[in-house]
Amino acid sequence: MPKITEAAQRRLEKAARAAAGRSYSPYSHFPVGAAVLGGTGKVYSGCNVENASFGLCNCAERTAIFTAVTAGEKIIKAVAVYTPTPLPTAPCGACRQVINEFGSEALVVSVCDSKNRIETSLSALLPGAFGPGDLA
Ligand code: THU
Repeated sequence: MPKITEAAQRRLEKAARAAAGRSYSPYSHFPVGAAVLGGTGKVYSGCNVENASFGLCNCAERTAIFTAVTAGEKIIKAVAVYTPTPLPTAPCGACRQVINEFGSEALVVSVCDSKNRIETSLSALLPGAFGPGDLA
């Protein structure tokens, strides 16, 4: 299991919870917040942003990752996801693929409104991933 410091993990989870409060999810009514820990040690957050053209909805994880990359990050060390649900939510398949691009060894933590949590790795969530190395 990939490791980050307890302080970094707390910071990441807090940022994911805060981001869910800014979710734009009038269609699904399923707010999601995410935060990523970049290689520089900085934290970037994101929320899901939906659209009246449903196929254009963007997940919280991808919003956070695109924000990190826009800030200059190329490595993702960890991802936290928060949903206001009794059970934690793991990243969807598309987000797993996007996490893999920058964090094939990333820690992935999902938290919710109970003590239930998922702590796993991207490589466990997306075994045998297709990634940048396949194009080399
Ligand atoms: N969603 C995320 O933000 N992350 C996930 O990993 C799963 C799904 C969002 C997309 C959509 O806005 C809503 O949750 C319902 O699918």
